[in-house]
Amino acid sequence: MILNIVGFIASYLLGSVSFSVLLAKLLKGIDIRQHGSGNAGATNTLRVLGKGPAVLVLALDVLKGIAAVWIGVWVGDGNAWLPGLCGIAAIIGHNWPVYFRFRGGKGIATAIGVLATLCFLPALFAGIIAILSIVFTRYVSLGSLIFVLLTPLFLLLMGYPWPVFWTSLIIGVFAFWRHRSNIVKIMQGKENKLGSGGASKG
Ligand code: G3P
Repeated sequence: MILNIVGFIASYLLGSVSFSVLLAKLLKGIDIRQHGSGNAGATNTLRVLGKGPAVLVLALDVLKGIAAVWIGVWVGDGNAWLPGLCGIAAIIGHNWPVYFRFRGGKGIATAIGVLATLCFLPALFAGIIAILSIVFTRYVSLGSLIFVLLTPLFLLLMGYPWPVFWTSLIIGVFAFWRHRSNIVKIMQGKENKLGSGGASKG
């Protein structure tokens, strides 16, 4: 039990390492949360710092999710819930990072890492549809929400174990909560489109 708690906390601390904040500070001496949409994530890194840094942030944030699930596998020692719980802890860390005054991102890249590790095929199918939606609408936020919405659906359809399903559902709830302002802007037709340059905060 103690080891399980240590694994959960370690995953949260790992998730709290906000690569977009660190890279923006390192490359431009700025706080990315004061620029673009104000979000500490790969999409806003693309707006503020460009393609190279955005790809790096995306890769590192995905890796946090993968690593957290493996921490859960290790500490859980056969427990079906721990890999997902540690993945969720990393997403909580990413969204509310202890090192950066609890102001982080929206957790999608880390969720990709978690879900691709827990359930590769459902995440892949959901990911393909999400990417297509981004290509057609140029709304990354919409694609992110489609991804977290469809993954639990595919898990159900494909008969995956309940712990994985519930994990993906909780991840979806967090993602929708963090995208509240994006949802409002999409409905108002004011959401920032990929490649359109500037972005309003929120
Ligand atoms: O993963 C974050 C993305 O869905 C939205 O980011 O910066 O446009 O709010 P942003």
